[in-house]
Amino acid sequence: MKNGKIWQDLNGNDIQAHGGCIINYGGKYYWYGENKGQDNCPGTTRVDVIGISCYSSDNLIDWKYEGLVLKSDKTDEKNPLHTSKVVERPKVLYNSKTNEFVMFLHLDNADYNFSHIGIAVCDKPDGEFELVNVCQPNNHDSQDMTVFADDDGSAYLIHTKDRDATINIDELTDDYKSFTGLHMSAMIDQYREAPAVCKYEDTYYMVTSGCTCWEANSALYSKSPDIMSDWRLIENPCVGENYRLTFNGQCSYIFKADGKYYIVLDHWIPDNLQKSGYSILPIEFENGKMTVAWKDEWLGI
Ligand code: DGJ
Repeated sequence: MKNGKIWQDLNGNDIQAHGGCIINYGGKYYWYGENKGQDNCPGTTRVDVIGISCYSSDNLIDWKYEGLVLKSDKTDEKNPLHTSKVVERPKVLYNSKTNEFVMFLHLDNADYNFSHIGIAVCDKPDGEFELVNVCQPNNHDSQDMTVFADDDGSAYLIHTKDRDATINIDELTDDYKSFTGLHMSAMIDQYREAPAVCKYEDTYYMVTSGCTCWEANSALYSKSPDIMSDWRLIENPCVGENYRLTFNGQCSYIFKADGKYYIVLDHWIPDNLQKSGYSILPIEFENGKMTVAWKDEWLGI
């Protein structure tokens, strides 16, 4: 699969999994993302909400479309999943205590002034998810977000607040459907978004982008010995040609496969979002430094 381009599923259709995440469950990979599979609304850089797609694969190359696992609402304009809204960056965690799959979403109005989190659950990975909580985590506005589950079972929502100025990290309750109240701010007033988090050798790493809507900018990574303190911005993890613009992409998620970490990038096409491409690139760690080099092709595992 050519990195940076739109990819096709096993039926030959464009994969609609933008701003998404890849999880491993039961020996299979599941890729969830925004289905933007229709023309942009005339004269805008938005697509009416269709829903969240799910794809499954054994090798991260051959993706079977499992359908829309969360569907937009076409009738009730007050529903946060109404087609006129914004539903972005779905992230899914499997909760072994409740045996549920929990999906987190950025829910917003078309003008991005609602800034809530949606939490949806399902007892199987391939849907259909039901929205069970719509809130502002610890009373903070929330836009781009990701989730991270630690080795000790604790899990966190990592999201932008104060209109993208600051990243907040909020601990989730045991069932992942709400918040414990424990939270902290990182990268205060640094205007970073699109967070993606992983843990390597007891250090937490967070990749973020700058805030330039759909246009590419420089990724930066930060790291910390503790998820709840001491986050420091380090540098751009990208190396090689076009590293400054994150290879014309924006981070959406970091996942682990066969013991190695990979980053998923979106390559947005603002005036035709449904054709936005993807890349999956390996992450290297050496002496506490994180690097991501461009590869023309994603060959899977
Ligand atoms: C940048 C964010 O990262 C995307 O998810 C999306 O919200 C766009 N902004 C909207 O302009």
